[in-house]
Amino acid sequence: MTKLNPSKTVGRELLSVILPTYNERDNIIPLIKKLLYLEDSFDLEILVVDDNSSDGTALLVKELAQSDRRIRLIRRVGRSGLASAIKEGMLDASGDLAAVMDSDGQHEPIAIELAVEKLRLNKLDLVAGSRFKGESQIFGLSQRRTGGSSWANRFARFSLSRKYKHLTDYMSGCLVLDIKNCLPYVCKVDVSGFKFFYELLAISDGNLLVDEVPIKFQPRNYGSSKLDLAILWDFLISLLHTFTLRFIPRRAISFALVGAFGVVVQLIATQILMLVFQMGFEEALPLSVVIAATSNYLINNALTFRFQRLIGWNLVKGLLKFLLVASLPVLANVGLATTFYNFVTPNTFWAQMSGILVVFVWNYAASSRLVWNTP
Ligand code: GDD
Ligand code: MN
Repeated sequence: MTKLNPSKTVGRELLSVILPTYNERDNIIPLIKKLLYLEDSFDLEILVVDDNSSDGTALLVKELAQSDRRIRLIRRVGRSGLASAIKEGMLDASGDLAAVMDSDGQHEPIAIELAVEKLRLNKLDLVAGSRFKGESQIFGLSQRRTGGSSWANRFARFSLSRKYKHLTDYMSGCLVLDIKNCLPYVCKVDVSGFKFFYELLAISDGNLLVDEVPIKFQPRNYGSSKLDLAILWDFLISLLHTFTLRFIPRRAISFALVGAFGVVVQLIATQILMLVFQMGFEEALPLSVVIAATSNYLINNALTFRFQRLIGWNLVKGLLKFLLVASLPVLANVGLATTFYNFVTPNTFWAQMSGILVVFVWNYAASSRLVWNTP
């Protein structure tokens, strides 16, 4: 039965189910249809947050939304990522409760019912579906990913408040939460990653009452996972961000790691140029500096600034700007290190570190602004 006006019924709770989608054409409609049975227990709102999928996912959802007012489509231009999609869905949800799940069939709707039951019974703020509790079952995750997830969980547990130590799946993408209680923290979630749940736990710092229900994690119905190297990188940055008490901006951490990698690239490039191409050190050095800077630029473009990623001709222009931006502070670096050495302490290590710190801050700030146009 299609209900045309999704207003709240007295005595029933409004449940907003948030479904993030990126190229889920074959999965999304069957899942929505399956979810409608939840209306036996709740007033229902289904919010699909699509990042402009290229496979027509949004059009299919729009068609359905035109005939069924319980379904809403939030369509975003470009791709801002999973955590950001979930946050957007939660901010827009009109429910008392919000549920989030994968749109590919990996989470079963029954998990939502069990989670709501537990949330209300124990007066909790959030209940997550866990793949790693005693009674959980994993059908849809390779051994490698299961292993990866348990490592990620160990680091996550270590980095979070003691109040969250009892949890077993900090990477879960299946959540039910009380919107009113969680919203102040949801608003603050840093959305650059895949891991909305981990970020919410980090930002709420033990102030939410959280528990889990076991789930049976299914194989994805159609299509393939969107988890890639960039997403793993984001998670590493999230962990470091939490370990540094969320003080250093995430992008600055990413930029610094890439910079450290650049040092290794430069050392190796110099060796290769000298040993294989028989160049002298002074000849090889400028070349390897440019090679390292170029590799830094490309990696930052693919990881640190991937939501502003430059392509085609802009990639070339960006490289020239990046090299220019990075070459300016070389003088400042030498000047500062010398001044520090002469006037503060005649310690070569700290003198160089002060120079490097200034160069880092400059490179990060200037290239964010001038190369990738971010604040
Ligand atoms: N809007 C939007 N934008 N949705 C996205 C994006 C994005 O950039 N990336 C992924 N999604 C959607 C997918 O369409 C899917 O519905 C859901 O988010 C999860 O993505 P999957 O590609 O299915 O991820 P997974 O199954 O490999 O990862 C699972 O395990 C992770 C922990 O290991 C999921 O359950 C994740 O939620 C979980 O964090
Ligand atoms: Mn999935």
